[in-house]
Amino acid sequence: MDSIRVQGGTPLQGIVKIQGSKNAALPILAACLLTNGQTYLENVPKISDAYGMIHMLEELGCLVRWERGLLKVDSGEARLGVVSAKLAASMRSSIFLLGALLGRFRKAVLDYPGGCVIGKRPIDLHLKALGKMGVRFQEKEGRLEASADELRGADVELGFPSVGATENLILAAVAAKGRTTVKGAAREPEVQALCEFLKSCGAFIQGTGTNEIKIEGGKPLSGARFRIPADRIVAGTYLFTGFATGGNVFLEDAPVSHMEAVCHLAERMGASLVADQEGVYVQYPERAGELPFLRTDVYPGFPTDLQSIVLAVRCTGTGTTLIRETIFEDRFHVVDGLRNMGAQIRIVDGRSVLVNGVERLRGTRAEAMELRGGAALVAAAAGASGETILSGKQFIDRGYENICRDLRELGARIVSE
Ligand code: UD1
Repeated sequence: MDSIRVQGGTPLQGIVKIQGSKNAALPILAACLLTNGQTYLENVPKISDAYGMIHMLEELGCLVRWERGLLKVDSGEARLGVVSAKLAASMRSSIFLLGALLGRFRKAVLDYPGGCVIGKRPIDLHLKALGKMGVRFQEKEGRLEASADELRGADVELGFPSVGATENLILAAVAAKGRTTVKGAAREPEVQALCEFLKSCGAFIQGTGTNEIKIEGGKPLSGARFRIPADRIVAGTYLFTGFATGGNVFLEDAPVSHMEAVCHLAERMGASLVADQEGVYVQYPERAGELPFLRTDVYPGFPTDLQSIVLAVRCTGTGTTLIRETIFEDRFHVVDGLRNMGAQIRIVDGRSVLVNGVERLRGTRAEAMELRGGAALVAAAAGASGETILSGKQFIDRGYENICRDLRELGARIVSE
């Protein structure tokens, strides 16, 4: 089951339910290490990155199991250990264990995190911020060792609103002595979800959703019951896929209040959207309308995680589009695959591409190289003439529970094999 076969050209039509958010679930799972008791998480997405994080928690002594659709995490017996190098290196999110382990044990030993091949992805901001709280770092045998005699609250100014650094800092700060102020914090909804979870466990956090977060550390954290919000990136993926195929869809549970820039862009490309608390109904034009320019940005700007999917559907849109990627320096791996399908794309520089819309793409053999680029190739294939066989499905499985099932719900002819 490591490839995907798509017969393109069927308009999407129907209802699909949007899964829980990967980027909210991963730091929240790590945060369970900070609680003394049992946590019940609803709506945890069944994706390989979540299974990877669960596995790492188990290696650290947590008891984790599914109970009637809820994920129960008991961290009462957690111990300071070293998670397997292979697991840590396979996903970027292993870095969340740094803040969580420091919070719980004042010490952490970790292999350097891996993740998708979309740029350099250093962790300097994480280390600098934690350093201000009294954490010392050294590298031993290629591993990162972090320790603090005392974790102290601090005033930290992040030079760039890194999502992961903000989250790591929050994880350490709720367990630190005194007040931490994070200036220049990331405002992404997933940071908000982490704060809401920690607050439901007893943490004292102010400024959630703003770029200045204040945390009063040291409050005892109990377990809690918490629902992982729906995934705005998965919702956006399906929302844009419809531009490749035409039709009309209802994205049930799509978190529209956190998708303003995304919905606005879909409307600019000619879709009609009707949103309510249940989700969003989308009617597509025959062909995506003009979009001269798109730029990714930090929240509430247009998310970098949807850049490749928009790029894929601009390949058959009207006119020319300049897409500028401002968050990651190497996020155009999908271009070769799209060109093989007949797309006209010119790489202007490492950060920008120019897409000239053609009538139709054609199915071919393609390879997913990373998570969102892989989903973008699926979107392109759904609209292309003929058959596409896509390898590298394991990258897509990192973030989509079952992209084939979901698109089949919408009438696409797509199977995994
Ligand atoms: C998170 C998301 C990812 C999303 C990204 C941006 C998770 C699990 N992943 O990734 O899906 O694409 O936010 O919205 O939530 N940077 C540094 N030094 C650091 C940290 C980051 O230079 O210490 C740079 C990165 O290389 C990148 C930019 O800052 O160019 C953004 O990174 P960041 O916001 O930290 O993204 P992640 O937390 O890795």
